[in-house]
Amino acid sequence: MVRLHAFFILSLLALQASFVRNIKLLNVRIANHTVLGTSTKLECTYDLQGETLYSVKWYKDGDEFFRYLPKSVPKIQVFEKQGIYIDIDKSNSNEVVLKSLELSSSGTYRCEVSAEAPSFQTVFQDRDMITVEEGPRIVGLLPEYNVGETVNANCTSSKMKSYAQLVWYINEEQANSTVLQGPYFKVHHPGSNEQLVTTVLGLSFKVTDSHFKSGHTYLKCAAQLTSVYLHSDKQIVKFTKRPPTESIISNTVQLANKIQVTSISARNAGPDHVIRLVACVPLLFRGLRHN
Ligand SMILES: *[C@@H]1O[C@H](CO)[C@@H](O)[C@H](O)[C@H]1NC(C)=O
Ligand SMILES: *[C@@H]1O[C@H](CO)[C@@H](O)[C@H](O)[C@H]1NC(C)=O
Ligand SMILES: *[C@@H]1O[C@H](CO)[C@@H](O)[C@H](O)[C@H]1NC(C)=O
Repeated sequence: MVRLHAFFILSLLALQASFVRNIKLLNVRIANHTVLGTSTKLECTYDLQGETLYSVKWYKDGDEFFRYLPKSVPKIQVFEKQGIYIDIDKSNSNEVVLKSLELSSSGTYRCEVSAEAPSFQTVFQDRDMITVEEGPRIVGLLPEYNVGETVNANCTSSKMKSYAQLVWYINEEQANSTVLQGPYFKVHHPGSNEQLVTTVLGLSFKVTDSHFKSGHTYLKCAAQLTSVYLHSDKQIVKFTKRPPTESIISNTVQLANKIQVTSISARNAGPDHVIRLVACVPLLFRGLRHN
């Protein structure tokens, strides 16, 4: 009798299981890196498999800050959380728009979707976001160098929650350790909640003819954040070579004393976006006469 009873229950469970449609969280799309003061969209797509939506909840570092209940009035409830300012008019069951990002907006975001009774199924996914002040900056470059002179420059990251990995490139090639100095770290508000770090990496090399062989020389510094997510901030310094002419007989290479910042842009283009703060500095220098 007991066995028969158990068999009956098991059959019932199996039968029910075959009818349970598993709701699916398809994607949580969040920009890996965002810039201080801008807005960003958090997206959550799901497949209810015919179930009825009960709630969509968003959490940051474990605290709920947004709740969407289609059967409530109003549908949206928000909860106070440091670094979170929600644009309610632009938020709905699939999207939450955060405005006025702060450094403290950095963290782990979770979208959690639940179905109505009787299944009450709940699915969620986590994503990290890091808010940075801006890209790294190249400082200390002189407007003009001759062959034999030494280029000394620093790449300085903005203040960040964690230190940045900085990489120098000369003509798209990663600068080798023999020409690097540092990295040096400056810790702001050490030990406090607002502890932030600035990373500085120096570059020092002697200018040789080989640096200009392609006619274009770039000095670029890119920041890589020390999370699993790769970099996004870079600065490009560009040297352009004037075509050699007969009138140039000097065998020194000179940069014209003109530095022009041609573009500084912060791009924020959706989920796979790359924040690129690009400072393009074309430096003209006189060509070598080749025999
Ligand atoms: C680079 O930074 C280091 C450490 O902060 C400093 O000692 C050095 O003078 C800087 N160099 C340039 C070229 O700004
Ligand atoms: C770095 O560059 C120097 C000079 O170009 C070269 O001699 C050295 O082998 C390079 N080191 C590495 C680790 O690539
Ligand atoms: C953003 O992070 C995801 C991992 O969540 C990674 O697959 C993707 O390449 C990152 N995108 C950028 C631009 O770093």
